[in-house]
Amino acid sequence: MVLDLTAKTALITGAASGIGRETARLFAQQGADVMAADRNLEGVESVAAELRKLGRTAIAHQVEISDEAQIEAMVQRAVVELGGIDILVAAAAIPFSTYGTDQGNRWLLVDQPLEDWRRMMSVNLDGTFLTDRHVARAMIKANKGGRIINIASGAAIVVSARGGAYSVSKAGVWVLTKTLAVELARYGITANAIAPGFIETPMTDHIRGSERLSRAVLDTIPLGRYGKPYDIAATALFLASEEGAYYTGQLMHPNGGVLIP
Ligand SMILES: NC(=O)c1ccc[n+]([C@@H]2O[C@H](COP(=O)([O-])OP(=O)(O)OC[C@H]3O[C@@H](n4cnc5c(N)ncnc54)[C@H](O)[C@@H]3O)[C@@H](O)[C@H]2O)c1
Repeated sequence: MVLDLTAKTALITGAASGIGRETARLFAQQGADVMAADRNLEGVESVAAELRKLGRTAIAHQVEISDEAQIEAMVQRAVVELGGIDILVAAAAIPFSTYGTDQGNRWLLVDQPLEDWRRMMSVNLDGTFLTDRHVARAMIKANKGGRIINIASGAAIVVSARGGAYSVSKAGVWVLTKTLAVELARYGITANAIAPGFIETPMTDHIRGSERLSRAVLDTIPLGRYGKPYDIAATALFLASEEGAYYTGQLMHPNGGVLIP
């Protein structure tokens, strides 16, 4: 089968909702056993129940992704209960909820309280860094190679007012990914990032819920529609599969053409 994940194991963070949840579904449909991790335990329990109906092993795990001890415990549990980690998809992050609005001056860089900036970095950047490195250590120990897939954002490249902290955190995720690609290649581990455009998940509710804002955003998307979580999950599936084996250090852009200059 093409894009087959039979006998593979995957740890997916941010799996309670949106892109992470859809990725867990698609990976399980393609044969993978999955640990679905998120701070929202109820959410990952419901996704794990869905995956078990497909006949897969599925573990729900609660984690606060900015806490290194909790990340270590999550990785340890995945190694023991899944029998190792072949694929990581790191999708947990907090959003930039003032996109396109004239509200939230506390998100303008000149005014932003340091604790808001630090919270964004500690979840989106530190959380991804710590997850990647604990998973990489487990992959190196298992000596079977592996795939690390980080969910960055188009905001790593295209910036907007009030989105500085989010953009910097996601640009950090992208540079982190490239560096890991160089450092981990010798172990047969690839590291790639995905930069979604505007995707139909709770993260974009405030945009899609406003006719004015939604029209302005859709006007910037050449394909004229929001992305579906499936569009991103399918990109992650490609990177996780045999077909994606020669990709490393890349930033993929499933975004309907937003970045075409
Ligand atoms: N939706 C978009 O348009 C879009 C665009 C670009 C990038 N992204 C990125 O895609 C990824 C998934 O986002 P989504 O759109 O599916 O949003 P979402 O809000 O549906 O999912 C994010 C998940 O991350 C979890 N999470 C947040 N903070 C956490 C923490 N501290 N510890 C553990 N879990 C935590 C949430 O509980 C939630 O289940 C994120 O990295 C986001 O930045 C989304």
